[in-house]
Amino acid sequence: MTEKILVIGANGQIGTELVNALRQIHGSDKVIASDIKSPTFSIRHTGPFEIVNVLDEDNLHHVFNKHRPTQVYLLAAILSAVGEQKPKMAWDLNMTGLLHVLDYAVEFKVNKVFWPSSIAVFGPHSPQQHTPQYCVMDPNTVYGFSKLAGERWCEYYFNKYGLDVRSLRYPGLIGWRANPGGGTTDYAVHIFHEALKYGRYQSFLSANTALPMMYMDDAIRATLMLMDAPADKIKIRSSYNLAGISFTPAQLADQIKNIIPYFEISYTGSDPRQAIADSWPKSIDDADAQNDWGWQLEYDLPKIVEDMIVNLRRGL
Ligand code: SER
Repeated sequence: MTEKILVIGANGQIGTELVNALRQIHGSDKVIASDIKSPTFSIRHTGPFEIVNVLDEDNLHHVFNKHRPTQVYLLAAILSAVGEQKPKMAWDLNMTGLLHVLDYAVEFKVNKVFWPSSIAVFGPHSPQQHTPQYCVMDPNTVYGFSKLAGERWCEYYFNKYGLDVRSLRYPGLIGWRANPGGGTTDYAVHIFHEALKYGRYQSFLSANTALPMMYMDDAIRATLMLMDAPADKIKIRSSYNLAGISFTPAQLADQIKNIIPYFEISYTGSDPRQAIADSWPKSIDDADAQNDWGWQLEYDLPKIVEDMIVNLRRGL
């Protein structure tokens, strides 16, 4: 079957990489990139693009009607740190945007929908080590509880309307092709850019703040594996835990020093993002993803650091 894939939020950190990967697999003209802003150079020049505002129902309906997608990836969202500055806007975009897309996916009989959740669905009373799929969840950021509510809606649309929605709880994502936009885990991308430019970095998270993180190549591979898996293998219709690897800013800095020996890290000492990080798991248990659809991680910390530095150096 020929796929027609609509990616909403194509200019962001995940979207930039996902559009690229999907266009290589399905052909450029089969992947419609869309975003509220004008596209980046690479997206604009490799295939079709639409301006889409997920809060504008007429505009969104028009794009579904025009392209009749078989698959939709909804990546447009406000992340954790910006969400705390604009709580109502984050709730509206993350929730109303999702509901619009789920409704049109049902109306236009879309075969599969992907929607990203996050480690932010967990909160201060969730177990912090090897956080299991099912446990106490009391997220205290707007981003976190919009993702948790979104997970419930995804499962609801699957049960009630038979919509094939699939989702992953991404850890913090690290990649060289695009910058993250307003999250708590952004430090782990910024550190590389500043290490190469200035040889030093001031981290807004403290030295020993462990968080689950993942290299973008693994995250894209996990996403495509999940979307390619036969529907009966997808046992969880809310969102799958995805572990990645856990490390602290100090451990990441040490690894960077192995390649850039003069690199120095310092710590801001007070930043609102610290409280967000402290409320999240330090490590995740993703046994269900491994058992249900064969997930296996490839990139450990040394491999991530090497690949980031090689690719960023090439771009300098
Ligand atoms: N990386 C996201 C953030 O920091 C979490 O999903 O907001």
